[in-house]
Amino acid sequence: MDAFAAIFARASTRSFRPEPVPRSALERLLAAAVRAPNHKLTEPWRFAVLTGESLRRYAEIRRSHRARRFEDPDAPEAAKAIAKTYREHLETPAFIVVMCAVSDDPVRREEDYAATMMATATLLVAATAEGLGTYLRTGGIMEEPALHDLVGLPAGHRVVGIVSLGYPDAPEAPKRRTDAAVKTTWLE
Ligand SMILES: Cc1cc2nc3c(=O)[nH]c(=O)nc-3n(C[C@H](O)[C@H](O)[C@H](O)COP(=O)(O)O)c2cc1C
Repeated sequence: MDAFAAIFARASTRSFRPEPVPRSALERLLAAAVRAPNHKLTEPWRFAVLTGESLRRYAEIRRSHRARRFEDPDAPEAAKAIAKTYREHLETPAFIVVMCAVSDDPVRREEDYAATMMATATLLVAATAEGLGTYLRTGGIMEEPALHDLVGLPAGHRVVGIVSLGYPDAPEAPKRRTDAAVKTTWLE
Protein backbone atom coordinates (compact mmCIF):
# COMPACT_ATOMS: atom_id res chain seq x y z
CA MET A 1 0.00 0.00 0.00
CA ASP A 2 1.47 3.37 -0.93
CA ALA A 3 1.50 6.35 1.43
CA PHE A 4 -1.56 8.04 -0.14
CA ALA A 5 -3.62 4.85 -0.02
CA ALA A 6 -2.75 4.38 3.66
CA ILE A 7 -3.54 8.01 4.51
CA PHE A 8 -6.95 7.84 2.82
CA ALA A 9 -7.80 4.42 4.29
CA ARG A 10 -6.92 5.27 7.92
CA ALA A 11 -9.92 5.42 10.24
CA SER A 12 -10.18 5.14 14.01
CA THR A 13 -10.99 1.51 14.75
CA ARG A 14 -12.76 0.29 17.89
CA SER A 15 -13.23 -3.39 17.28
CA PHE A 16 -10.43 -5.86 16.65
CA ARG A 17 -10.01 -9.51 15.82
CA PRO A 18 -8.43 -11.40 18.72
CA GLU A 19 -5.17 -12.42 17.07
CA PRO A 20 -2.05 -10.75 18.44
CA VAL A 21 -0.07 -8.21 16.45
CA PRO A 22 3.38 -9.66 15.66
CA ARG A 23 6.22 -7.92 17.39
CA SER A 24 7.96 -7.47 14.00
CA ALA A 25 4.97 -5.43 12.75
CA LEU A 26 5.00 -3.25 15.89
CA GLU A 27 8.73 -2.72 15.43
CA ARG A 28 8.17 -1.55 11.83
CA LEU A 29 5.59 0.99 13.03
CA LEU A 30 7.93 2.36 15.67
CA ALA A 31 10.80 2.54 13.18
CA ALA A 32 8.53 4.60 10.90
CA ALA A 33 7.35 6.81 13.79
CA VAL A 34 10.84 7.97 14.72
CA ARG A 35 11.40 9.23 11.15
CA ALA A 36 9.12 12.20 11.99
CA PRO A 37 10.54 15.72 11.56
CA ASN A 38 12.11 16.88 14.80
CA HIS A 39 13.60 20.34 15.35
CA LYS A 40 17.11 20.08 16.83
CA LEU A 41 16.82 16.28 16.71
CA THR A 42 15.83 16.16 20.37
CA GLU A 43 14.08 12.80 19.83
CA PRO A 44 11.60 13.65 22.60
CA TRP A 45 9.41 10.55 22.13
CA ARG A 46 9.30 7.40 24.19
CA PHE A 47 6.98 4.45 23.59
CA ALA A 48 5.72 1.64 25.79
CA VAL A 49 4.21 -1.31 23.94
CA LEU A 50 1.56 -3.21 25.89
CA THR A 51 0.84 -6.81 24.85
CA GLY A 52 0.36 -10.10 26.72
CA GLU A 53 -0.10 -9.83 30.50
CA SER A 54 0.38 -6.06 30.52
CA LEU A 55 -2.94 -5.76 28.67
CA ARG A 56 -4.75 -7.09 31.72
CA ARG A 57 -2.96 -4.65 33.98
CA TYR A 58 -3.80 -1.77 31.65
CA ALA A 59 -7.45 -2.88 31.41
CA GLU A 60 -7.61 -2.87 35.24
CA ILE A 61 -6.16 0.65 35.35
CA ARG A 62 -8.73 1.77 32.78
CA ARG A 63 -11.52 0.10 34.78
CA SER A 64 -10.65 1.84 38.04
CA HIS A 65 -10.10 5.16 36.24
CA ARG A 66 -13.58 4.85 34.70
CA ALA A 67 -15.13 3.77 38.01
CA ARG A 68 -13.83 6.89 39.76
CA ARG A 69 -15.80 9.04 37.35
CA PHE A 70 -19.12 7.72 38.68
CA GLU A 71 -20.67 8.88 41.93
CA ASP A 72 -21.96 5.35 42.50
CA PRO A 73 -19.88 2.87 40.49
CA ASP A 74 -22.11 0.03 41.71
CA ALA A 75 -25.26 1.50 40.18
CA PRO A 76 -26.36 -0.79 37.31
CA GLU A 77 -25.73 1.71 34.47
CA ALA A 78 -22.32 2.63 35.88
CA ALA A 79 -21.34 -0.98 36.47
CA LYS A 80 -22.31 -1.78 32.88
CA ALA A 81 -20.21 1.07 31.49
CA ILE A 82 -17.24 0.15 33.68
CA ALA A 83 -17.43 -3.51 32.62
CA LYS A 84 -17.60 -2.42 28.96
CA THR A 85 -14.44 -0.32 29.33
CA TYR A 86 -12.65 -3.28 30.93
CA ARG A 87 -13.81 -5.72 28.27
CA GLU A 88 -12.94 -3.41 25.36
CA HIS A 89 -9.44 -2.94 26.70
CA LEU A 90 -8.92 -6.64 27.35
CA GLU A 91 -10.06 -7.38 23.81
CA THR A 92 -7.58 -4.95 22.22
CA PRO A 93 -4.50 -6.88 21.03
CA ALA A 94 -1.95 -4.12 21.68
CA PHE A 95 -1.50 -0.56 22.90
CA ILE A 96 1.33 1.85 22.33
CA VAL A 97 1.60 4.45 25.06
CA VAL A 98 3.28 7.54 23.59
CA MET A 99 5.35 9.70 25.94
CA CYS A 100 7.10 13.00 25.36
CA ALA A 101 9.89 14.93 27.08
CA VAL A 102 8.66 18.08 28.85
CA SER A 103 11.32 20.75 28.48
CA ASP A 104 11.58 23.75 30.82
CA ASP A 105 11.93 25.90 27.71
CA PRO A 106 8.43 26.67 26.37
CA VAL A 107 9.52 26.78 22.72
CA ARG A 108 11.34 23.45 22.98
CA ARG A 109 8.35 22.00 24.89
CA GLU A 110 5.93 22.92 22.11
CA GLU A 111 8.23 21.72 19.35
CA ASP A 112 8.88 18.44 21.12
CA TYR A 113 5.15 17.86 21.60
CA ALA A 114 4.53 18.64 17.93
CA ALA A 115 7.29 16.23 16.86
CA THR A 116 5.92 13.49 19.10
CA MET A 117 2.42 13.89 17.68
CA MET A 118 3.86 13.86 14.15
CA ALA A 119 5.58 10.61 15.07
CA THR A 120 2.22 9.33 16.31
CA ALA A 121 0.51 10.32 13.05
CA THR A 122 3.21 8.52 11.08
CA LEU A 123 2.68 5.46 13.26
CA LEU A 124 -1.08 5.48 12.56
CA VAL A 125 -0.54 5.66 8.81
CA ALA A 126 2.17 3.00 8.88
CA ALA A 127 -0.20 0.77 10.88
CA THR A 128 -2.86 1.19 8.18
CA ALA A 129 -0.31 0.11 5.57
CA GLU A 130 0.31 -3.02 7.71
CA GLY A 131 -3.40 -3.83 7.64
CA LEU A 132 -3.83 -2.77 11.26
CA GLY A 133 -6.58 -0.64 12.77
CA THR A 134 -5.70 2.02 15.31
CA TYR A 135 -7.39 4.40 17.74
CA LEU A 136 -5.56 7.34 19.30
CA ARG A 137 -6.91 8.41 22.67
CA THR A 138 -5.89 11.09 25.17
CA GLY A 139 -7.81 12.32 28.24
CA GLY A 140 -7.48 11.98 32.00
CA ILE A 141 -6.04 8.47 31.81
CA MET A 142 -2.76 10.10 30.74
CA GLU A 143 -2.35 11.56 34.24
CA GLU A 144 -3.07 8.26 36.00
CA PRO A 145 -0.18 7.36 38.37
CA ALA A 146 -0.87 3.62 37.95
CA LEU A 147 -0.36 4.01 34.20
CA HIS A 148 2.89 5.89 34.82
CA ASP A 149 4.05 3.00 37.01
CA LEU A 150 3.02 0.43 34.41
CA VAL A 151 4.93 2.09 31.56
CA GLY A 152 7.86 3.31 33.68
CA LEU A 153 7.28 6.93 32.69
CA PRO A 154 10.75 8.52 32.69
CA ALA A 155 11.32 11.62 34.86
CA GLY A 156 10.62 14.82 32.94
CA HIS A 157 8.20 13.11 30.53
CA ARG A 158 4.43 12.92 30.17
CA VAL A 159 2.03 10.62 28.40
CA VAL A 160 0.62 12.36 25.29
CA GLY A 161 -1.46 9.62 23.71
CA ILE A 162 -2.43 5.97 23.82
CA VAL A 163 -2.86 4.08 20.56
CA SER A 164 -4.99 0.91 20.39
CA LEU A 165 -3.88 -1.53 17.71
CA GLY A 166 -5.14 -4.72 16.16
CA TYR A 167 -6.46 -6.29 12.99
CA PRO A 168 -9.89 -4.73 12.39
CA ASP A 169 -12.98 -6.85 12.89
CA ALA A 170 -14.61 -5.11 9.93
CA PRO A 171 -13.28 -2.34 7.72
CA GLU A 172 -14.03 1.14 9.14
CA ALA A 173 -15.27 3.74 6.69
CA PRO A 174 -13.06 6.84 6.81
CA LYS A 175 -14.93 9.77 8.40
CA ARG A 176 -15.80 12.83 6.35
CA ARG A 177 -13.52 15.83 6.14
CA THR A 178 -14.09 19.24 4.62
CA ASP A 179 -12.34 19.44 1.28
CA ALA A 180 -8.83 20.86 1.71
CA ALA A 181 -9.65 23.51 -0.91
CA VAL A 182 -12.04 25.17 1.57
CA LYS A 183 -9.24 25.47 4.12
CA THR A 184 -6.57 26.61 1.68
CA THR A 185 -5.53 29.99 0.32
CA TRP A 186 -3.35 29.95 -2.75
CA LEU A 187 -0.98 32.91 -3.10
CA GLU A 188 0.50 33.04 -6.57
C1 LIG B 1 -4.72 14.46 19.72
C2 LIG B 1 -5.90 13.54 19.57
C3 LIG B 1 -6.53 13.07 20.70
C4 LIG B 1 -7.62 12.19 20.60
N1 LIG B 1 -8.24 11.76 21.73
C5 LIG B 1 -9.31 10.96 21.63
C6 LIG B 1 -9.96 10.50 22.81
O1 LIG B 1 -9.52 10.77 23.94
N2 LIG B 1 -11.04 9.70 22.68
C7 LIG B 1 -11.53 9.37 21.45
O2 LIG B 1 -12.54 8.67 21.39
N3 LIG B 1 -10.91 9.76 20.32
C8 LIG B 1 -9.81 10.54 20.37
N4 LIG B 1 -9.17 10.94 19.24
C9 LIG B 1 -9.58 10.38 17.94
C10 LIG B 1 -10.54 11.31 17.21
O3 LIG B 1 -11.76 11.37 17.90
C11 LIG B 1 -10.73 10.78 15.78
O4 LIG B 1 -9.52 10.89 15.09
C12 LIG B 1 -11.85 11.57 15.08
O5 LIG B 1 -13.10 11.18 15.54
C13 LIG B 1 -11.80 11.40 13.57
O6 LIG B 1 -12.00 10.06 13.23
P1 LIG B 1 -10.95 9.28 12.32
O7 LIG B 1 -9.68 9.15 13.12
O8 LIG B 1 -11.59 7.95 12.05
O9 LIG B 1 -10.72 10.08 11.07
C14 LIG B 1 -8.08 11.79 19.31
C15 LIG B 1 -7.42 12.28 18.17
C16 LIG B 1 -6.35 13.15 18.29
C17 LIG B 1 -5.65 13.65 17.05
